[in-house]
Amino acid sequence: MITYVDIDDFTGKYITKRAESLLKPDLDKYHTELGKRLNGKSVLVIGGAGTIGSHYIKAILRYHIGRLVVVDINENGLTELVRDLRSSTGYNIPQEFIERLGKRQPWSCPTGIRRFFVSPRESGELCMIASVLGESGDIIFPNLDEKRDMITFDAIAHDLLHYLGLQADVCATEQEAREKALLLNESSVSYPVYFFETDTSGEKPYEEFFTEGEVIDTDKFTSLGVIKNSVKRDSHEIDEIFTRLRTLFDSGNVTKAAVVEILREYLPNFEHIEKGKGLDSKM
Ligand SMILES: NC(=O)c1ccc[n+]([C@@H]2O[C@H](COP(=O)([O-])OP(=O)(O)OC[C@H]3O[C@@H](n4cnc5c(N)ncnc54)[C@H](O)[C@@H]3O)[C@@H](O)[C@H]2O)c1
Repeated sequence: MITYVDIDDFTGKYITKRAESLLKPDLDKYHTELGKRLNGKSVLVIGGAGTIGSHYIKAILRYHIGRLVVVDINENGLTELVRDLRSSTGYNIPQEFIERLGKRQPWSCPTGIRRFFVSPRESGELCMIASVLGESGDIIFPNLDEKRDMITFDAIAHDLLHYLGLQADVCATEQEAREKALLLNESSVSYPVYFFETDTSGEKPYEEFFTEGEVIDTDKFTSLGVIKNSVKRDSHEIDEIFTRLRTLFDSGNVTKAAVVEILREYLPNFEHIEKGKGLDSKM
């Protein structure tokens, strides 16, 4: 059973279906401007050992910055980052699937949840362009097509197995998937997967980057759109949100409903769908 995945190859072929970066036209268009703005600058990346942070770093290191400072609480992640930057190997998207595959653990996958995907490299380039060329208050999103680019997790699971010459052994329960995983061996041709209809809180069935009433600039970039009329809060209001949340957390009597209530005052159209189950309870 092959478990090695060339993640960049798989992502390009099956997930983003792009051979080159979505951001290439904008990186080309603003090449000189990016170089000018970044030349000799000190760059601070918080959370730089993570997926997006590390790819942000790779994107920014193509320019002549003066100094790079990376802050992250994950010490092993920082060591891995240094190793990764030296060898410049790629990183993940369906990371969880691949890690489980390596350990011969069964997969657990929600059905019907549709998401837009960009590759890790594109996520870093997008954030780099937004942080260097965006104006204060801009919300920048990738111009993706709902029909072409939004795909389900279950489609990715099937494609990844197909890519490895395997097929899904669809299990009716988590227990069945665990038992079948114990029987996996070198000559296995199917892999146990428990597909479930999502029932966890906060899981939206699909994504949208903007809604009616938002002012969108589609001219500045080719592959990105910019929302121009985001509500700007002054720093006192933001301090107040944190004070209220801190008081709630310190009270020792914190409930999800109370957190949602505070957030809703500041984000009037914030909708949280409570289903009484969290992702932590999943296999
Ligand atoms: N990956 C996605 O698909 C995606 C999509 C939309 C939004 N986001 C958001 O973007 C952010 C980064 O995502 P990611 O996929 O790179 O996550 P990640 O978990 O790979 O990386 C987050 C990094 O932040 C570090 N970190 C956490 N707390 C910290 C602290 N107090 N100080 C310094 N470092 C700290 C972690 O150690 C980790 O290395 C997250 O907020 C995530 O919710 C991610």
